[in-house]
Amino acid sequence: MNKVRQADLGTPAAASTETVQVEIDGMPATVNAGSSILRAARETGVDIPKLCATDSLKPFGSCRMCLVEVEGRKGYPASCTTPVEEGMKIRTQTSELSKIRRNVMELYISDHPLDCLTCSANGDCELQDMAGAVGLRDVRYGFDGENHLDGGIDSSNPYFQFDASKCIVCSRCVRACDEVQGTFALTIQGRGFQSKVSAGVDEGFLDSECVSCGACIQACPTATLMEKSIVDHGQPDHSVVTTCAYCGVGCSFQVEMKGDQVVRMTPYKDGEANHGHSCVKGRFAWGYASHQDRVMNPMIRDTTDEPWREVSWEEAIQYTAKRFKEIQGKYGRKSIGGITSSRCTNEEVYVVQKMIRTAFENNNVDTCARVCHSPTGYGLKTTLGTSAGTQPFDSVMDTDVMVVIGSNPTVAHPVFASQMKRRLREGAKLIVIDPREIGLVRSARIEAEHHIALSPGTNVPVINALAYVIVSEGLIDEEYVRERCDLESFEAWKAMILKPENSPEEVAIVAGVDAETLRAAARLYGSARNGSIYYGLGVTEHSQGSTMVMGMANLAMATGNIGRSGVGVNPMRGQNNVQGSCDMGSFPHELPGYRHVSGDEVRSQFEKHWGVTLDPEPGFRIPNMFDAACAGEFMGMYIQGEDLAQSDPDTHHVEAALSNMECIVVQDLFLNETAKFAHVFLPGTSFLEKDGTFTNAERRINRVRPVMPAQQGKDEWQITQDLAQAMGYNMDFESSAEIMDEIAELTPAFSNVSFKLLDDIGSVQWPCNEAAPEGTPIMHIDQFVRGKGLFVETDYVPTEEKTNRKFPLLLTTGRILSQYNVGAQTRRTENNTWHAEDILEVHPHDAETRGIRDGDLVSLASRKGDITLHAKITTRVKPGVVYTTFHNPETGANVVTTEYSDWKLPRVQGYSGTNRSGIASLQLAGGIC
Ligand code: SF4
Ligand code: SF4
Ligand code: SF4
Ligand code: FES
Repeated sequence: MNKVRQADLGTPAAASTETVQVEIDGMPATVNAGSSILRAARETGVDIPKLCATDSLKPFGSCRMCLVEVEGRKGYPASCTTPVEEGMKIRTQTSELSKIRRNVMELYISDHPLDCLTCSANGDCELQDMAGAVGLRDVRYGFDGENHLDGGIDSSNPYFQFDASKCIVCSRCVRACDEVQGTFALTIQGRGFQSKVSAGVDEGFLDSECVSCGACIQACPTATLMEKSIVDHGQPDHSVVTTCAYCGVGCSFQVEMKGDQVVRMTPYKDGEANHGHSCVKGRFAWGYASHQDRVMNPMIRDTTDEPWREVSWEEAIQYTAKRFKEIQGKYGRKSIGGITSSRCTNEEVYVVQKMIRTAFENNNVDTCARVCHSPTGYGLKTTLGTSAGTQPFDSVMDTDVMVVIGSNPTVAHPVFASQMKRRLREGAKLIVIDPREIGLVRSARIEAEHHIALSPGTNVPVINALAYVIVSEGLIDEEYVRERCDLESFEAWKAMILKPENSPEEVAIVAGVDAETLRAAARLYGSARNGSIYYGLGVTEHSQGSTMVMGMANLAMATGNIGRSGVGVNPMRGQNNVQGSCDMGSFPHELPGYRHVSGDEVRSQFEKHWGVTLDPEPGFRIPNMFDAACAGEFMGMYIQGEDLAQSDPDTHHVEAALSNMECIVVQDLFLNETAKFAHVFLPGTSFLEKDGTFTNAERRINRVRPVMPAQQGKDEWQITQDLAQAMGYNMDFESSAEIMDEIAELTPAFSNVSFKLLDDIGSVQWPCNEAAPEGTPIMHIDQFVRGKGLFVETDYVPTEEKTNRKFPLLLTTGRILSQYNVGAQTRRTENNTWHAEDILEVHPHDAETRGIRDGDLVSLASRKGDITLHAKITTRVKPGVVYTTFHNPETGANVVTTEYSDWKLPRVQGYSGTNRSGIASLQLAGGIC
């Protein structure tokens, strides 16, 4: 358990690791060269008063509270803006300094409401602390002069308020929005006494550019910017550090509690993925955990047209085991299986796949990563040797050219996007390859060098065209390739790439882009000192996903851009634990650690440990399960925290499969769309109740710590274990820590991981083993994990489905900042304020030809089905392309996406990405075709 307020050293750490000797208040000290005096003093235990400085922001030097005396210098320099120098003798406490500080504080307090005792920040206010620290007892000027006490309160944002009367105009909020978040939503309007913080011209926070990241609140030293939850419930009394359960950034948070109630989530400064930053989801959208819709008791029903019956845990478990055993008795051992959840912890996922392999006695386990990053697993493993990204997030600060492909970081991975934007403001160049004009293409103080607005489905020809220019214009890093790559495969790849159809001029026609832009982008990446690639679901949720992943790896190897900071090929994982659920053996062909089930040696290691004989044959992938269910061969399914009926493409086929099964078990927080087809509902736990680990997009294993016991009475790993026992397998873990110990014992890349290590050092990036006892931030440094980097030929095989007269539009889907995945969590929070429904983006040309105006209700149809939603006319999409999100079950966007899966993968091993796009037609709702 932590103290609530996180330490603030005043100014950021110095970049230099060299040290200088100084004297502070007569005490000798060794401090980092380049440190501010303020930071150096605080690091040595001397707290110089401060107000406008905080260690997440560059020093500003406006409040004059931090003045010090330096021997041999005139006046009183501000310690926050003055760097230490060798031999400096600093005095922080003299009677003159005390007088100045008291005077400054007196001025602040003379224009401040005197309501400390009833203020929400009482006890957590730097102004109050500093008034105490400088010994202010009296205000000589009185309180009757001109002041700002009637400034009013802006409560427009659902999560926080701005009380202008308490503002000391220190600019910390403005600087946080600029420097940390990169949104530039705030300004100081007016001059001198008229100065005030403004979120826009005459508009409140809600209508401004603000994205509710909370950085300004975090930075504010007073109660001016304050969470409404603190106003309502008061200050926290203790806190626990845990990990956000939303996206793959994996931000660390301090959950702040008052008794057993959560009152605030504050991003944790020592979190190595987020360094104290957050987004609106992690920081504010946690109320779903106690939402009234949450199911708190196990429920069963014999058929889906019966009402649910609440039962005890014992009855629910026994009932499930009986039905699963009956199905196996009737249809065979392989007629049941399960899905693991990328929202659950590594430990919870591990026990599910273990239960399926031991108690179900088959390998019919798959994971929701099937629809997102399975091509990443295959593509990166084939080319580089490891199914994971190559870099830590911080590596982006060393990049010179970043290529962002099929990923929209400002909405899907917002905290990392802020870091990217920081690097771009420092001068790195950006190439965006995306059908839409995503936020990064043009935003405050950022403009992409090139936006390649390709047609959906043409990633592969575009990456081939970039490679064509790099090969044909001599931009290959010959020495790197010679030393580190498989030369035979390189020569074959080169020959393939130089085929005429891969020239920019040919690809320009296929992809609907400009040939010269392709050439310029290739030259920029190919000649960068450090070039990095970041990609998302726009790459992997396509039928050429794995080819594209290998195309990017080829390009990075050819230009020598793998194996050091600032480079690499980096998947932007969607959900919080996509990486972990894949690592934990969730695929039907792989045991934990990506080892194929057919391997005798590996299998025998697990068999020995688990005391069973394992099936050497890979099991069903999700699409196989659905097909087999429709064929009456796969009849029972255990679904951990995943809403297949909403999130998977081709909803009608999914629903047909689910309807045909005889026993579906859903383990989740809420009765989701899939639960409509379920016979058993096992209530799950929220992240606030979980004890375990998540692994983020940079392979970082972060601790998830419970702040309260399981509210429905059982930890999720325990539910699975009870079911395994009821099915006849004696699983006997006593804690999550014990599960991690088994994972470490059986998984070479995790062999040094334990809860103790994570509690001791914070987090580690796998591989974490004897060779790398504290983890491996950058992969493939001296050589590729597979030995020589393998180039793979990436001929373009177009998706079979093409636009035609009936379906002339290409549909692509994505996310929005405030909502998350199927929206089960965020739709149960105030995040609906920003995005209560899915909207269809349509280009003005496509809208005009169909008589559609902004806001009209339109009908979108594909050969799979049709949906109705409101249109937004925008040039963010190009003509012929429409875009929507899939956060709302009412919209059901996946009704119109198609069944195509990765063309390459079904034939190999059992990976397969699926397609969350399609072709469609569009008309005004109620219109005539
Ligand atoms: S709102 Fe807070 S951080 Fe911003 S200027 Fe006012 S006191 Fe400073
Ligand atoms: S919440 Fe974030 S985006 Fe909004 S004003 Fe504050 S720092 Fe800027
Ligand atoms: S960026 Fe992702 S992990 Fe971080 S707070 Fe937002 S949703 Fe959570
Ligand atoms: S803290 Fe140094 S001038 Fe404000």
